[in-house]
Amino acid sequence: MKLLVLLSLVAVTCQASSRHERRFPDDFLFGTATASYQIEGGWNADDKGENIWDRMTHTNPDVIKDRSNGDVAADTYNNYKRDVEMMRELGLDAYRFSLSWSRILPNGLSNKVSEAGVNFYNNYIDEMLKYNITPMVTLYHWDLPQKLQDLGGFINPNIADWFEDYARVVYEKFGDRVKHWITFNEPREVCYQGYGDVTKAPILNATDVGTYHCAKHLVLAHAKAYHAYANDFKPTQGGVCGITISVNWMGPLTDTEEDKFAAELKRQADWGLWAEPIFSEEGGFPKEISEIVARKSAEQGYSQSRIPVFTDQERELARGSSDFFGVNHYTANLVSASEYKFNWVIPSLYADIDVGTYTPPEWDQAASVWLKLAPNSIYNALTHLHNKYNGPVFYITENGWSQLLEDRYEDDHRIKYYRAALNSVLDCLHDGVDLRGYMAWSLMDNFEWMEGYTERFGLYEVDFESEQKTRTPRKSAFVYKEVIRSRVIDPDYEPETRTMWIDEGH
Ligand SMILES: *[C@@H]1O[C@H](CO)[C@@H](O)[C@H](O)[C@H]1NC(C)=O
Repeated sequence: MKLLVLLSLVAVTCQASSRHERRFPDDFLFGTATASYQIEGGWNADDKGENIWDRMTHTNPDVIKDRSNGDVAADTYNNYKRDVEMMRELGLDAYRFSLSWSRILPNGLSNKVSEAGVNFYNNYIDEMLKYNITPMVTLYHWDLPQKLQDLGGFINPNIADWFEDYARVVYEKFGDRVKHWITFNEPREVCYQGYGDVTKAPILNATDVGTYHCAKHLVLAHAKAYHAYANDFKPTQGGVCGITISVNWMGPLTDTEEDKFAAELKRQADWGLWAEPIFSEEGGFPKEISEIVARKSAEQGYSQSRIPVFTDQERELARGSSDFFGVNHYTANLVSASEYKFNWVIPSLYADIDVGTYTPPEWDQAASVWLKLAPNSIYNALTHLHNKYNGPVFYITENGWSQLLEDRYEDDHRIKYYRAALNSVLDCLHDGVDLRGYMAWSLMDNFEWMEGYTERFGLYEVDFESEQKTRTPRKSAFVYKEVIRSRVIDPDYEPETRTMWIDEGH
């Protein structure tokens, strides 16, 4: 009898302590994320300059699924106070958003700074700070000033200096209040999709060399902006500066050495091109990719390798140039050396690595074709990066789930996805990954690039037909709010109401 009591006491204690561990730390930053072109509108408000998304959607509307654009979007330019009210409703600790380069520097260059543009962001930031919401600011989320694109954009090596000049203006104007800086959002999508393919502006389709030359110049632009902050602003402003890379998990389809190597090549192509120069000990592009591209370039009759090299000086500039690793994570793929290959345009990044990818049919499918709920994918991705790059500080700067317009408020798939993702986050914390925050994508529905308004990622629905661009919380918003408040994931929590309220205690 005594023994039985003792045993059940032990059981209770274990359960309590394991429940205790499944808790998010109080200083863990919960937030949501957005990007300027996807929400702001005001495409030509005041003296804002044209950017590459303005140009592409206006001159080439057929590339967007519903022929829409971001001219008005969720009209955050006029609705920013409502945005901050939503952050307060959710009880967010932080909010990640991006600055529109051409709203601040209408011509892209720093000789002319827009007072109206700076005022808009000052108001937005001040409104967040009034309610203790930490702004996390991305300098570049894909909307390059058109004038700089006309000069070659990321293919022109001068982009590194232009970006540094822009970054200095931004640190100078906002750095007294902004302490979390992200230079670039998702370099792969900028360089591969925009320069090596036709799935993001400026749809350059320079498949052979576009991705690689953009990659090098983007890394150097990041490094220059990082050092400008570290040398001239950090000593007085005291913030941190990093980069956000899209890291979906790429594991081997089978346990063979061939598939393991194929998965490593896929990881290097998807994120190593940008992560290795910054986070690895050696610096520069991933060795295996450089070797493959050099060999194939020679076979294909190019006079030099299609992938450039970093000079020793450039290598040193980029190495270690980040205070944290920002991870945008959505999904996973299984990689094969021989099966499931796609018929890639030759030559191009993915023809160069020449591997196949597969996703099991039992993984839940979102509205976006590329997005499935893959088990433990955050844990797999972050522990891999943690081991590879000697335990850097991480933020998850995006993670979320898309649905079609018709499924308006009852977004149970999204709730399932967020609960799985946040459990994977807890697994990372438990295993010692230095993960400091999590930004859900997205605060609200927005212009989903080539998919226009057909795919919805918002915790809040936006009625784009309405004059006010009315925002209404979905069920997932209530669930996320409860996680932030309680710091635990309650799998049975069922929200009662559709009315959001502001918890003044926050
Ligand atoms: C992109 O370039 C490749 C190779 O030149 C070509 O085969 C393909 O049709 C182009 N795609 C588009 C959409 O123009």
